[in-house]
Amino acid sequence: MEVLIPKLPSFKFPSPITTRTSSCVRLGFRRLSSLPISASTVNQTVAEPDIGSPSLGHSTRPHFPILHQEVNGSKLVYIDNAATSQKPTAVIKALQNYYEGYNSNVHRGIHFLSAKATDEYESARKKVATFINASDSREIVFTRNATEAINLVAYSWGLSNLKSGDEIILTVAEHHSAIVPWQLVAQKVGAVLKFVNLNEDEVPDIDKLKEMLSRKTKIVVVHHVSNVLASVLPIRDIAHWAHDVGAKILVDACQSVPHMTVDVQNLDVDFLVASSHKALDSYMVKWTSCLLCLHF
Ligand SMILES: Cc1ncc(COP(=O)(O)O)c(C=O)c1O
Repeated sequence: MEVLIPKLPSFKFPSPITTRTSSCVRLGFRRLSSLPISASTVNQTVAEPDIGSPSLGHSTRPHFPILHQEVNGSKLVYIDNAATSQKPTAVIKALQNYYEGYNSNVHRGIHFLSAKATDEYESARKKVATFINASDSREIVFTRNATEAINLVAYSWGLSNLKSGDEIILTVAEHHSAIVPWQLVAQKVGAVLKFVNLNEDEVPDIDKLKEMLSRKTKIVVVHHVSNVLASVLPIRDIAHWAHDVGAKILVDACQSVPHMTVDVQNLDVDFLVASSHKALDSYMVKWTSCLLCLHF
């Protein structure tokens, strides 16, 4: 049985371990069965702290009140950040400030609290736009989560632009929240879902994706970083191939935005979704857990 070893944070922050395949890169994991197993391999993969130097865990733990508890007699350790991250004190304080200081409706009141809440809300939208290098903060749409953002695109753009015989290309490694909305919309309009399989490296076969594209393709739905494979897809290339046949591209950036620089102008994508609740925030603002970037 193959074993994947997560690359634990190291104290000198070396560049991440990457495995380059013909078309995409897998980040952060080494496949045990494909590595010569030796003490040096293990040391390289799982760094031990220098005696006396504080670990990343030690320096970050104090900022996360939820970790200040014991469960079954041991210090609580949380490793499900891909699903949702725990919130540091700064984020919890921001929420508390909001509820104690200016809780009110945004864009729907003329009193002091509403004006303050609206200003903060719009300033958060600008910060998010800068964070992913959107050219205009109006491209940022706040939704409750990535699932809702993808549904929004499927039921708005999808229902009004897809027709019988049109093709939607996805990979088999998409999160179900990026598959189900397109299955339902395809059923409604008679469009066809086409799935890209994995190649021998067990990452989506991007060469096959390129071959599948045609004038029938209306949208390509792909992850940036996979939550199941850790594959990193060449989004800029895929966007150009999709645009060449007149198709749109929706990128599920849930697992990339929290971990790497994401520049929507450089990637040249039409729709990008990410979850700020997976990026330490509840979210980047107090009102939302997700962003949908419409990049035109
Ligand atoms: C790649 C990917 N896409 C979408 C989602 C769904 O995100 P949300 O919980 O914000 O709906 C997840 C959640 O784990 C994910 O990992």
